[in-house]
Amino acid sequence: MAPCTVSAPAKINLHLEVLGLRSDGFHELAMVMQTIDLADTLTCVTTADGLISLQCSRDDLPTDGSNLIVRAAELLKARSGFAELGARLTLEKRIPIGAGLAGGSSNGAAALVGLNTLWGLGFSSAELEAMAAELGSDMPFCLAGGTQLCFGRGEVLEPISVAPDCLPAVLLIKHPQASVSTPWAYGRCRDLRGDFYLESEADFEQRRDALRSGPLLAALRGERPLPPLRNDLQAVVEPEVASVQEGLALLRRTPGALAVAMSGSGPSLFALFADLEQADAARQQLAPELTAAGFEAWCCRCTGSGVSLV
Ligand code: C5P
Repeated sequence: MAPCTVSAPAKINLHLEVLGLRSDGFHELAMVMQTIDLADTLTCVTTADGLISLQCSRDDLPTDGSNLIVRAAELLKARSGFAELGARLTLEKRIPIGAGLAGGSSNGAAALVGLNTLWGLGFSSAELEAMAAELGSDMPFCLAGGTQLCFGRGEVLEPISVAPDCLPAVLLIKHPQASVSTPWAYGRCRDLRGDFYLESEADFEQRRDALRSGPLLAALRGERPLPPLRNDLQAVVEPEVASVQEGLALLRRTPGALAVAMSGSGPSLFALFADLEQADAARQQLAPELTAAGFEAWCCRCTGSGVSLV
């Protein structure tokens, strides 16, 4: 059978607000997530030996049962009831690891889509989304992609109507030696802010409504300029990670940058520009400083869909 190839794009957070702490230990969030065109590629080949194996172009990524690709494949197989299903999976990694770009979640979502197709299982989008939510809070977004409000743990999606021409271009930077553990960032947030969390569903809903009717969504519809971006984890991570302080300072003094923020739990950082030409010009202008500080940089487009068969 022909191999199946899936594109697994990264996301950035245009908004990340920590509302409160839930009884399941996760944080209640209000986010705007946006797919960008920096993507990994997952290739799936079927085998009949009942084994799931993963190879990756980078040797610093675990390929055992801790990888979300393997976990997604095992869950899909278990739900299918066909114990003999096997797959050889190969990941071409381009999204930086441990960066706050949902690379691992997007890879897991790609495995769900690729193997559902390759194994001919016929699970619906809703069924795949439910499996994705079991595996990780960001994974349902990675399946659907585009520009979405994400509530709950991050898995409750509400599409946003955007004017595609008004979506900004992205200059993304990350220091290759820096990485932030997401549980650490949320744990630190709890230590620092725990007394200031909202507690009632009515308060949560008020914040969701403020986001729905606020200036960020109006800007994405093309009705006004972009407001400053909010990421509550940035206040937690910035004081602890030198490359985040340095990178934010660099991006903030870049001419033409419409807004600057950290993505997710970091440490990747981004600046938004009116178009790709301006993002590219900024990257060239910043190149000597980025190189001197050791940052990697990518210019990306915002796109309208998540993981997809190639
Ligand atoms: O869902 P996921 O496995 O991606 O979450 C990783 C960790 O991030 C969780 O174990 C938790 O510590 C933290 N988290 C959280 N609240 C969320 C999402 C993640 O506290 N809404």
